[in-house]
Amino acid sequence: MTLHFRSIEEAGTERIHRLLDLTEHMAAVGRRPNPKVPALRGKTVCNLFFEDSTRTRMSFDLAAKRLSADTMTLAVSSSSVNKGESLRDTVETLDSMGVDAFVVRHQTSGVPWQVAGWTPAAVINAGDGWHAHPTQALLDAYTIRQRRGIANDFSGLKVAVVGDIRHSRVARSTTDILQLLGAKVVHVAPRTLLPPTSDVATTSKFDDVVGEVDVVYMLRMQRERMGAGLVPNGGEYSRRFALDERRASALRPDALLMHPGPMNRGVEMMVDPTELPQSTILDQVTNGIAARMAVLFELLGSGGIEE
Ligand code: NCD
Repeated sequence: MTLHFRSIEEAGTERIHRLLDLTEHMAAVGRRPNPKVPALRGKTVCNLFFEDSTRTRMSFDLAAKRLSADTMTLAVSSSSVNKGESLRDTVETLDSMGVDAFVVRHQTSGVPWQVAGWTPAAVINAGDGWHAHPTQALLDAYTIRQRRGIANDFSGLKVAVVGDIRHSRVARSTTDILQLLGAKVVHVAPRTLLPPTSDVATTSKFDDVVGEVDVVYMLRMQRERMGAGLVPNGGEYSRRFALDERRASALRPDALLMHPGPMNRGVEMMVDPTELPQSTILDQVTNGIAARMAVLFELLGSGGIEE
């Protein structure tokens, strides 16, 4: 049976612990003068992105290259998908070229599971609809672990995830991994931007939690996934849910401020986070390479990293 990495839930606790430890190892590789290792020489990784991406796509590409795999990236907007080729035919065509892992981002939930039915290759979910984004969750958890100097036990940590929870696959996967590691999560959002059912604690009062929690995780408003009328108006949203000067100064000095990117300045982010010592936003980007190296190595590597 081929091993995949499609959701935190599917991976389970033991694998997540192993992947976090492996991410730490890969981060150390990334700090070497020559950050490239031969571990995946001869393997081919195919990036299949049906949705826009900057960080995720580039860092998967770099992660594969750092492990010496060959990479190919299908630019869907200039591919035969535009001539009506189906997803299945696209996958089977690329598979015939000899692919060991597909990295898939698609606007529809569940596509990575479908793709796995059409190829013997490993499938990595790089974001499927509103559903899951497990490598983002892994890099987020690793960033907390690194900044806090802790291992894989997050009990005692309180995390507020703030904003458009309902449409966010990041919120779902990152909440899953944080809870799996033992952290307490609260979702902070207007009622219209919360999922219809969830067993996570919620509040609509950002001010009540901003100065209390260990981690404030801000989300982008996913307007491309919204019907009309979910948010009264941008100004009202920002007044209640953005990180502005007042809330930024209420953050605990040892708190972490996180965001998966892309960030919308002037909507959820009214301050320049690069000026806040609590911000981990660029660390998250750096750690994304190590986390994706860990996943690729787990799925495709045999033997050691240095072999
Ligand atoms: C997110 C995504 O695409 O799910 N971005 C990312 O991968 N870092 C979040 C978003 O689009 O808001």
